[in-house]
Amino acid sequence: MEKVTSPAGMQKLADELRAQRKRIALVPTMGFLHDGHMSLVAEARRQCDIVVMSVYVNPTQFVAGEDFATYPRDMAHDEKKALDGGVDFLFSPPDGEVYPEGYLTFVEVDKVSRILEGEFRPGHFKGVATIVSKLFNIVKPHVAIFGQKDAQQAFIIRKFVKDLNFGIEIIVAPIIREPDGLAMSSRNVYLSPDERKRALALYHSLKLAGDMLRKGEVDLTHVRDRMTALIAAESEGRIDYIQFVDPNTFDLIGNSIGLNAVQAVLAVRIGKTRLIDNMIFDVRKP
Ligand code: PAJ
Repeated sequence: MEKVTSPAGMQKLADELRAQRKRIALVPTMGFLHDGHMSLVAEARRQCDIVVMSVYVNPTQFVAGEDFATYPRDMAHDEKKALDGGVDFLFSPPDGEVYPEGYLTFVEVDKVSRILEGEFRPGHFKGVATIVSKLFNIVKPHVAIFGQKDAQQAFIIRKFVKDLNFGIEIIVAPIIREPDGLAMSSRNVYLSPDERKRALALYHSLKLAGDMLRKGEVDLTHVRDRMTALIAAESEGRIDYIQFVDPNTFDLIGNSIGLNAVQAVLAVRIGKTRLIDNMIFDVRKP
């Protein structure tokens, strides 16, 4: 595995690899790698000859008052995990080279960036779309892999890739969970042992929604109320939102289902830690 820190050096490498007709896959991350990240590397390996992983805690996607300064970082751990996972190039640029003094250009996806996560984290997706665009121009991948864990992020990335003609194939890989169901996340390290148990309420509420929808429930207000009650009882977490979207368009679904598939998305604060999770349900009538 080769470590690369300079954007210009990475671009030059990418040009050389492309000249050799290699197919390049990119897995963008903010590091503190876990098995969710590594599942994306495995998918990248299945897709392409060369796997590039980026590790960069992107300041522009953190909203004022969020955890940018304290976001968990451990480069030695990440290097070992990346090496063991079969990453070919680990790209981790310094802040000053990503956003040099006088930086002015941003990528913004309208509408869908303002709902759900965007409502609670205004400007977040502008930072995400900007850094991912920059990584695409630096690494020049044929394919890029993202996790379903961040469903709205994956949707927004697909959208600007299409709208701005990036010509990169976007693959969205399934959520990797702990054995008890908690979705893996770098932020899970913030949870105290007690909060870690309470955090399971997110997964349990999604399972409850699935059970209700499979049994033919069509009133989403009823589903949301039952999820809210379960989260209150199991975790005393503060709910930012529980919503249902059309997985193909990310449009919010009103009160009742008229679709084949429904995606439940939620964000809950357990103590000081904000967790997100989601699940897609097939609600086609048999
Ligand atoms: P980060 O939170 O480090 O996540 C990097 C990638 O790993 C994202 O595509 C995310 O959806 C995926 N991922 C995280 N947890 C996962 C899990 N449990 N199962 C499957 N995939 C999982 O998302 C970001 O970083 C940043 O916003 C980034 C895209 C790198 C831009 O800065």
